[in-house]
Amino acid sequence: MIRSVFKGSGSALPRRLVTNADLAQELDTSDEWIVERTGINQRYIADESETTSSLAIGAARRALDAAGIDGKTIDLIVLATATPDQTFPATATKVQAALGANGGIAFDVAAVCSGFLYGLGVADSMLRTGMAKRALVIGAETFSRILDWEDRGTCVLFGDGAGAFVLQAEEVEQDGPGILATRLHADGDHNQLLYVDGGPSTTQTVGKLRMKGREVFRHAVVNLASVLEEVLDDVGLSPADIDWVVPHQANERILDATARKLDLPPERVIKTVGLHANTSAASVPLAFDHGLRDGRIKPGDLVMLEAMGGGFTWGASLMRV
Ligand code: UT7
Repeated sequence: MIRSVFKGSGSALPRRLVTNADLAQELDTSDEWIVERTGINQRYIADESETTSSLAIGAARRALDAAGIDGKTIDLIVLATATPDQTFPATATKVQAALGANGGIAFDVAAVCSGFLYGLGVADSMLRTGMAKRALVIGAETFSRILDWEDRGTCVLFGDGAGAFVLQAEEVEQDGPGILATRLHADGDHNQLLYVDGGPSTTQTVGKLRMKGREVFRHAVVNLASVLEEVLDDVGLSPADIDWVVPHQANERILDATARKLDLPPERVIKTVGLHANTSAASVPLAFDHGLRDGRIKPGDLVMLEAMGGGFTWGASLMRV
């Protein structure tokens, strides 16, 4: 059978590190509140010279290096972002030009924090149906540009960054590597719980992020636990079969609550929320790359990727590395 096989990952972070203590100098907040409520210790924030595309290109180059693949041979680039460089063209086309991969397919997907899962699902479908052979799936964000830096309830939660996977269509055995199953969902009735209050067609401004955090939290735990069960049902496996869960890194309490609901040992959950905060579409590939490079995730491991975000959108994907 043809599967989308993982060949390498990479990530990129802005140069500037901002700690909770740094934020507490400007805002009515404290390191203690942020750590206790979210598990976040620090985040990276892009300076004027760093953009979603520059972070995406950095992550893509590292992923290609890890895979030992020449960027010119990539024929599909799917870039998940809610903070593109421009309204159009797609930021994916900037990555394509930087890699010299011109002529293939390149586009952005907008599913906010679930964007990487959506991108993975779309790329996997295109690889398995033969529309492309080698794909880069990227999650890249500069959320710092859409934060209301006077709203302590949201601005302390997010950071900037990018992560990328290289995938290749390959003929494999049933127990071989590759993406085994993906499930994606959306429920537009919840638009108003997490959104940006601007856009080209409405205000002609970029807008700022607005969130009803407590309600998002409640939906996140329920939706994530159910989509993980759905993916496991698709392949006839149980939580005990999973080597690693790589969740969207929004809040350590969401990660713990989801793991508890599924009876997953907390030591099998990759957590980087303390280091990077919530980097939206970048968070899953950033966390995966972290776990792979520090030697926890190994070839042959069964890894569950999952995310939930604005829309609401949510999804999960099971992959044998
Ligand atoms: O990536 C997309 C998905 N997003 C998420 O998953 C986010 C989900 N939500 C959350 O992570 C949590 O709801 C938050 C971290 C956003 C908030 O935690 P919470 O436990 O739900 O706190 P809260 O919003 O109910 O606020 C509790 C208190 C409030 O004070 P009062 O009204 O009780 O006096 C807030 O004003 O904490 C106050 N507060 C803060 N205090 C210090 C809110 N933000 C801060 C802050 N520093 N930064």
